[in-house]
Amino acid sequence: MYELLKVEGRAKRGRFHTPHGTIETPVFMNVATVAAIKGALSTEDLERIDTQVVLANTYHLHVRPGDRLIKELGGLHQFMSCNKPILTDSGGFQVFSLAAMRKIKEEGVYFSSHIDGRKIFMGPEESMQIQSNIASTIAMAFDECPPALAERDYIIPSVERTTRWLKRCQNEMNRLNNLDETINKQQMLFGINQGGIFEDIRIEHAKVIREFDLPGYAVGGLAVGESHEDMYRILEAVVPYLPQNKPTYLMGVGTPENILEAVERGIDFFDCVLPARNGRHGHVYTNHGKMNLFNQKYEADMQPLSEECHCPTCQRYSRAYIRHLLKAKEMLGMRLCVMHNLHYFNNLMKEIRNALDEGSFTAYKKMRLEGYKNN
Ligand code: GUN
Ligand code: ZN
Repeated sequence: MYELLKVEGRAKRGRFHTPHGTIETPVFMNVATVAAIKGALSTEDLERIDTQVVLANTYHLHVRPGDRLIKELGGLHQFMSCNKPILTDSGGFQVFSLAAMRKIKEEGVYFSSHIDGRKIFMGPEESMQIQSNIASTIAMAFDECPPALAERDYIIPSVERTTRWLKRCQNEMNRLNNLDETINKQQMLFGINQGGIFEDIRIEHAKVIREFDLPGYAVGGLAVGESHEDMYRILEAVVPYLPQNKPTYLMGVGTPENILEAVERGIDFFDCVLPARNGRHGHVYTNHGKMNLFNQKYEADMQPLSEECHCPTCQRYSRAYIRHLLKAKEMLGMRLCVMHNLHYFNNLMKEIRNALDEGSFTAYKKMRLEGYKNN
C-alpha cells in the first residue's frame, strides 16, 4: 500500500494507496475537526487548493451530530460530499485536552462532554466503533497523550496502557471490518508512539508497536509544550525504529519550519490547526515569514498577499481589500486568508516532494529556512 519512491538521508518521498485515492507524501492534512474547515471553506474549496487528505475528529463527531447518524447517512465521505482520503483522530487526545472531569481507567476514559456536560465513556473499542461508523479511510489508535512535563514515573505505566489499548483497538477493528453492515471494510488502523521526551521509552515502545504490523505509525505526544529541540531529538531517536516502508505521521505539527525539520527526520504525514487558526486572525504565511494583515501599512496596499502564490485569493484580491474585510469582521476576510494559508501549506509540501524527487531537499530546506528568518 505504501511505496517508498525515494530517500534523501532519512527523508522519505512516498506514495500511499488507499480505497479513497492515492496520497503523495510528505503531505499536510487539512483539519476539519467537526467535518468542516474552520473559516467557511467547502469541500470544493479544498479541491481548488490541492488538499489531499482531510482530518476529522472522533470525539467531536460522536458528540455532535453523532456517529450513528453519520453511519445512517452513508458515512462521512457521503455526509460531507468528500471523495478524498479522510483520517480520523481517535478522541484520545481531544478527551485529554477538552473534556472536563476526566478519569483514566484501564478500560478507558470517563469524562463530561464539552457541549452539554453529558457523561461519556470512551475506550479503545468505543473509539474504533465510532471511527467505523464515521467510515474514515484511516482510523487512529486510542491512546493517552501525557502532558509535556510528565515524569518517567507517570509516562512508563501510561505507555504500557497505551500498548494494551492498541491490542484492543486492533482486535476491535478486525472484528468491525468483517461485519456485513460496515461501510468501509478496508478501514486502516495507525498505531501511535508515545513516551514523552524520553528516548529510551520512545524506542522501546516503537519496537513493541511495530510488531503489530499496522499499515502506518504516528508519533504522538509531541508539540504539547516541549521545546523544538526536544521534539527534533525525539524524532531523530524514534523514527529509525518505525518501519521505513510504511507511512509515519507526526501528530499536530506544525509550523513550516517544524515540517521541514521533521521531513528531514523521516516523517510523511502532518496535521495542524495553525494555518486555519492564523488565517482567521488575519495572519498569513509567505516565503518571507508571516504577515499580520491588521498592520496599518497594508491599508492602501493593492498587491496580492504574495506575488509568488497561485491560490484563489492571490489571483484576485489585494492586501488592502482583505484588511478591510477583516477589520469589518466580514467572514469573507477570514475565508480568503484561510484559503491562502492552507494553499501555502499544501504547496510547501508539493515543493518538498519535488525537491525530494530531484534529490535537492537539503538545499530546498536551507533556502526556505533562510526566507522565514526575515520574520
Ligand atoms: N494529536 C496531537 N497529538 C496527539 C496524540 O498524542 N494522540 C492523539 N490521539 N492525537 C494527537
Ligand atoms: Zn495566496
